[in-house]
Amino acid sequence: MTRVEIALPGQAGADALAVPVAQPLGGDGAKIVDDRLGGRLRKLGESGDLRGECGEAVLLHLDGELEAPRLVAAGVGQRDQVDADALRTAGAATAQALSRVGGTLVWLLDESLPVPLPQQAAALVEGTILGAYSPGNWKSRHETKAPGRIVVGHAGGPELQEAVERAAIVSERANRSRDLSNMPPNELTPHTLGEKAQELAREHEHLTCEVLATKELDDLGMGALTAVGRGSRNEPRLIVLRYDPPGARDDIVLGLVGKSITFDAGGISIKPSGGMQDMKGDMSGGAGTLHGIGALAALRTPVRAIAALAAAENLPGGDAFRPGDILRAANGKTIEIINTDAEGRLVLADALWYVRREGATHVLDLATLTGAMELALGDLYAGGFANDVQWGELIVEAGRRSGDLVWPFPLHPRYRRYIDSTFADLKNSSTLRQASPALAAEFLHEFAGDGPWCHVDMAGPGFLERSRGDYLRVPGGTGYGVRLIAELGRMVA
Ligand code: BES
Ligand code: MN
Ligand code: ZN
Repeated sequence: MTRVEIALPGQAGADALAVPVAQPLGGDGAKIVDDRLGGRLRKLGESGDLRGECGEAVLLHLDGELEAPRLVAAGVGQRDQVDADALRTAGAATAQALSRVGGTLVWLLDESLPVPLPQQAAALVEGTILGAYSPGNWKSRHETKAPGRIVVGHAGGPELQEAVERAAIVSERANRSRDLSNMPPNELTPHTLGEKAQELAREHEHLTCEVLATKELDDLGMGALTAVGRGSRNEPRLIVLRYDPPGARDDIVLGLVGKSITFDAGGISIKPSGGMQDMKGDMSGGAGTLHGIGALAALRTPVRAIAALAAAENLPGGDAFRPGDILRAANGKTIEIINTDAEGRLVLADALWYVRREGATHVLDLATLTGAMELALGDLYAGGFANDVQWGELIVEAGRRSGDLVWPFPLHPRYRRYIDSTFADLKNSSTLRQASPALAAEFLHEFAGDGPWCHVDMAGPGFLERSRGDYLRVPGGTGYGVRLIAELGRMVA
């Protein structure tokens, strides 16, 4: 856990100072530092070592000129275009430049930037914590260091304090979600994911957890979730968390549903072997949901919420479900299986029904659902499919504010024919290679019940197979969904 506080730079006992540097170089802000350095930054600018480009972090070793032995000049790009995203990127680049240092990092703010100080500090702290994350937990010698303490160099004030604390909580939770995504599937099974959820619930007042296993799932008639889990000895679970804080409005219960396939081999419709190891990340929607509701509890956001993680392992074992099987979901609908690799929509179907039955009024599901969504949007945006314009727009706005970006995609009843089945109420996949994100959403629509619902297909931004030069540039889980849920909670509370 990184400690975060606000203090005047001189009082902090820093291992490193960092300052945002905007283009064109030599303007306000970094100039104060440069004056104390006798123009060293200016000279680095002239020689081309320092450009102020967004994502650039130049590490200088000092000799007593400032209150720390090191300075990071963190580029934020064109001054008039600096926004929260640029500052998060600068924070992350700085954390990476200091990955051998750790210790205390002091951020100097820049009053001349077009971002108000509380938001500026929050974005720098968030970027630093997200950027300091390392996925190498399983290395025998894990040598990357995150700052143990981040100090925002300022005299303080309640608004700044609130913004910085919130940023620290939300980004730590996003990193915990990444830890879950990165866990190998031999360690993270539906059962152990349930244990993680129970541990989380014990950390917080007003947050409770209940884990439903095979017998209870059968009693509830969850024939879709249980079918997906049948090919693995690691049996499926429905992991339910309820957050019921005092003082919440009584007309809204957020329903948060997360696809939690701890490993997706595809089942009998087995996937090609290349890259299959990344399918340990197929529970990233569930991880985002878990630490999203955890963030609401940690922030004491006064909104009621229920989260359901539909957890199963999709393997081709001897008892696996097959193409041709017809399942009955908890809402009574029958589903013909065309492709066992279209398993996410099956487990979500029963979980969506469950959160409605438990009183959810406004539903959001997060799922690494279709490869085509990643082809369409890459690692940045998720696609959002909503049955209610206002609810969809709220989620897009929460994404814009938080950095977990969502772009609207269509739901339309005329996509329904793609999943019409000859034998059953519907089938789980089309035989045409078209519109798979939209018809997967149309499938879920059949189980989403009455009231606002939005499906977020985060197959692209949920889990990265390689570094991509962004502030979440580290391969593996990104924590997608935690910041989205935390922001959505704030907006509806
Ligand atoms: N988990 C995958 C989707 C996925 C693929 C996520 C790549 C992230 C990266 C999902 O269960 C799946 O296999 N989807 C299939 C559906 C198809 C069989 C209808 C897909 O999109 O190819
Ligand atoms: Mn699949
Ligand atoms: Zn999957």
